[in-house]
Amino acid sequence: MRPEMNVTFADISLTRQGTLAVLVTEGAALRGVASDLDAKLGGALKRAMRAANFSGKSGTVLELVGPQGVSASRVLLAGLGKSGDLSAAGLEKAGGELAGRVAKAKETSLSIVLDGISAPKMPAADAAAHVALGAKLRSYRFDKYKTKKKDDDKKGEIKSLAVLTRAPAEARKQFAPLAKVAEGMFLTRDLVNEPANILHPGEFTKRAKALSKLGVKVEVLGEAQMKKLGMGSLLGVGHGSEHESQLIVMRWSGGKPGEKPVAFVGKGVCFDTGGISMKPAAGMEDMKGDMGGAACVTGLMHALAARKAKANVVGVIGVVENMPDGKAQRPGDIVTSMSGQTIEVINTDAEGRLVLADALWYTQNRFKPKFMIDLATLTGAIMIALGKEYAGLFSNDDKLSKQLAEAGEAEGEKVWRMPMAEAYDKMIESRFADMKNVGGRDGGSITAAQFLQRFVNKVPWAHLDIAGTAMASPQTATNQSWGSGWGVRILNRLVADHYER
Ligand code: BES
Ligand code: MN
Ligand code: ZN
Repeated sequence: MRPEMNVTFADISLTRQGTLAVLVTEGAALRGVASDLDAKLGGALKRAMRAANFSGKSGTVLELVGPQGVSASRVLLAGLGKSGDLSAAGLEKAGGELAGRVAKAKETSLSIVLDGISAPKMPAADAAAHVALGAKLRSYRFDKYKTKKKDDDKKGEIKSLAVLTRAPAEARKQFAPLAKVAEGMFLTRDLVNEPANILHPGEFTKRAKALSKLGVKVEVLGEAQMKKLGMGSLLGVGHGSEHESQLIVMRWSGGKPGEKPVAFVGKGVCFDTGGISMKPAAGMEDMKGDMGGAACVTGLMHALAARKAKANVVGVIGVVENMPDGKAQRPGDIVTSMSGQTIEVINTDAEGRLVLADALWYTQNRFKPKFMIDLATLTGAIMIALGKEYAGLFSNDDKLSKQLAEAGEAEGEKVWRMPMAEAYDKMIESRFADMKNVGGRDGGSITAAQFLQRFVNKVPWAHLDIAGTAMASPQTATNQSWGSGWGVRILNRLVADHYER
């Protein structure tokens, strides 16, 4: 089990052990509890503020180590910037930065005081909850394979975080669902970080099945069942692998009985060598993260079930491994998808869309969902277009696109809508089959999305290309992990804001 940071909420008190941090806004640094603290410290805070020219600007920290007059081993003033500019994201960042700083100092206990801190249109209790969320997200680590850490290069670890506020009970209540979302993100991060010799399709299936503890119904279809259903597109990808391909269906029924579900579909390529169209060696190790879409869907199902979301939700993931082998599919092979449409496999490295083609078709036909959103580390081209800041959004529905864009802004997981059009669709016409699986270099992310759309009927649908955001994205105050957990927050918010009863 991962070492957990214990998060509590309590009334404001200045008699804590460990590190005591007080959050202050710019220009109001020595009001309220900060001024009480200064008195206990014999005016040391005021003197330090003056000496360090500290005014509470965002991201600045004033640190007193081993001060006299308090039981805390160190006292921090942490600047939040102007109170009018404060946001949930800003508070999370402050919580994350403090947690990072304190862990680095090998301190195991952190108390953060929020006296009268709130963002515009946000009650103080919510502010406290978001500070705690930021610290919790920062506390994630994936170091289970490091057996030889010396004490010195061991990063510190905060064991207990107390957020001190005038409304601890309400803050605790606000934090509870956020903590479940963080748990879901941690599951996603774990799955993406695991190497492919450990997290092969069989192991992924085990971890998905563990969601049944939360009340999620998990069904697994193996190769024989998929063959019966005619999923030749998905199955072709796994032909070269020693590991059996799996289609995993996760269902959470928290909504009205009988109400149509919303559906999430994920690309789960546990390792993508490229197959016979093999990738070059440099950086190929990153392809252990090519199941990022499936990891996100799994983490989302965890979050929704753990916080008992009042919605009916299905998650469907195609979990396979793309390997070169005597049995592997070849360029030029033609496969028949469950939809009946045939596909000429020009490049075996364009495998994600082959997996999703059957997973999407299956999902819309079996569940008739209100909408269907797929997530996939689908193309390198999306990073050329958008870098690692935004995920690519492709959709046949303006309303769903708008809801996603708003949810993404609110949660700090941003999406940018990309065009889709007939002219791009033409680029995947095949000489021998109904379509081919690549459209050439130009607009590579768009032709991939056009391919997926051929397996979507009338249902509102969105495709998120997360190749840039799911892994190896820039480290932030709240994420230091290679696998970022991207997608859980935006989709949890989408469900919470629009699809819960
Ligand atoms: N999994 C890759 C896309 C990818 C690349 C994700 C880098 C994350 C980082 C996908 O299966 C792939 O190989 N796509 C090809 C498509 C091409 C063959 C049309 C690509 O992007 O080069
Ligand atoms: Mn590939
Ligand atoms: Zn891939």
